[in-house]
Amino acid sequence: MNFAIVGAGGAVGREILKVLEGGALPVGNLRLFGSARSAGRTLTFQGKEIEIEELTHESDFSGVDFALVSAGAIVSREFASVITAHGTVMVDNSSAFRMDEDVPLVVPEVNGSDALNAPRNIIANPNCTTIQMVVALNPLHQITPLRRVHVATYQAASGAGAAAMAELEQQHTDIVAGRAPVVNRFSAQLAYNVIPQIDVFTDNDYTREEMKMYHETKKIMHDDNIAVSATCVRVPVMRAHSEAIWVEGEEAITVEQARAAFASAPGVVLADDVAAQVYPMPLDVAGTDPVFVGRVRADISGKGLSFWAVADQLRKGAALNAVQIVQYIIAHR
Ligand SMILES: NC(=O)c1ccc[n+]([C@@H]2O[C@H](COP(=O)([O-])OP(=O)(O)OC[C@H]3O[C@@H](n4cnc5c(N)ncnc54)[C@H](OP(=O)(O)O)[C@@H]3O)[C@@H](O)[C@H]2O)c1
Repeated sequence: MNFAIVGAGGAVGREILKVLEGGALPVGNLRLFGSARSAGRTLTFQGKEIEIEELTHESDFSGVDFALVSAGAIVSREFASVITAHGTVMVDNSSAFRMDEDVPLVVPEVNGSDALNAPRNIIANPNCTTIQMVVALNPLHQITPLRRVHVATYQAASGAGAAAMAELEQQHTDIVAGRAPVVNRFSAQLAYNVIPQIDVFTDNDYTREEMKMYHETKKIMHDDNIAVSATCVRVPVMRAHSEAIWVEGEEAITVEQARAAFASAPGVVLADDVAAQVYPMPLDVAGTDPVFVGRVRADISGKGLSFWAVADQLRKGAALNAVQIVQYIIAHR
């Protein structure tokens, strides 16, 4: 089958290449796209150099079965019709179409079959923080319908793209050398700091990132009654997002029930042995596929349950989830 990666040189695009390099999909021809900035540069795939093509309104996607697109919402909106013009299925990592009624928003472990009904040939990959959260929420939701979720996120610099990773590294270098760190990609210095703002603020004083978690969770889990209140925080971690999650369902969930559900859930690894100081951390999780869950405990303030979930947001939160959507479609159509 023939594939294209749009935004191939970016943080997510390069991760998609890595996932494909591992043999996740039957790649016949692979085309790479970027802006004029990276057009003409090459990236290596399976020992071959592939040149990045500039994405333009004249780009011809005929013969491309699936396009994995991660070039930001503005690009996705502008070029969706170009990409899908000849029947190419566009799996989009941006927020452009996620809440459109005729665009499925898919996490294969939770609602894979939604991917089979994509009238516009566009399938949206959810926000990275939402993906890892719903993979962990879904097994609990099978025990009793979840009603309230409070989550505080600890989001890595790479969530803001390749330039943001470079900025965090440069800030450390500058501080160590006694120079003033440069701030471009974040609202404040990230090195030696945490920033309680991801994306812009909305009218209700939540950020757009936090509201994505609220809306996208309902759509993916097909349940309008799950209310998510999130506080999204950028931390000076290079890769892998962490989340402190508190849930309350219609019935109480015991720790034993939760552990058993996590242990058998697809895409989840239970790493929870506090006596041995076993819990997931971003340094260990970076570069891996699953959502790791630990610190499972009964809420001492009520009838809820608290736990900690860590996943590599460039893989499960973006590249891997997009590839898994394609795998699901190939296996089920
Ligand atoms: N980073 C994450 O963890 C993550 C997770 C989930 C979803 N996402 C989403 O994925 C998308 C990409 O994120 P990223 O982190 O990979 O960003 P990034 O590192 O900044 O990469 C952006 C990519 O988009 C390309 N691009 C920009 N303008 C373009 C244009 N006009 N035409 C064609 N290509 C263009 C860039 O190409 P040039 O190199 O040529 O400029 C680059 O390859 C965003 O929508 C983001 O919200 C990111």
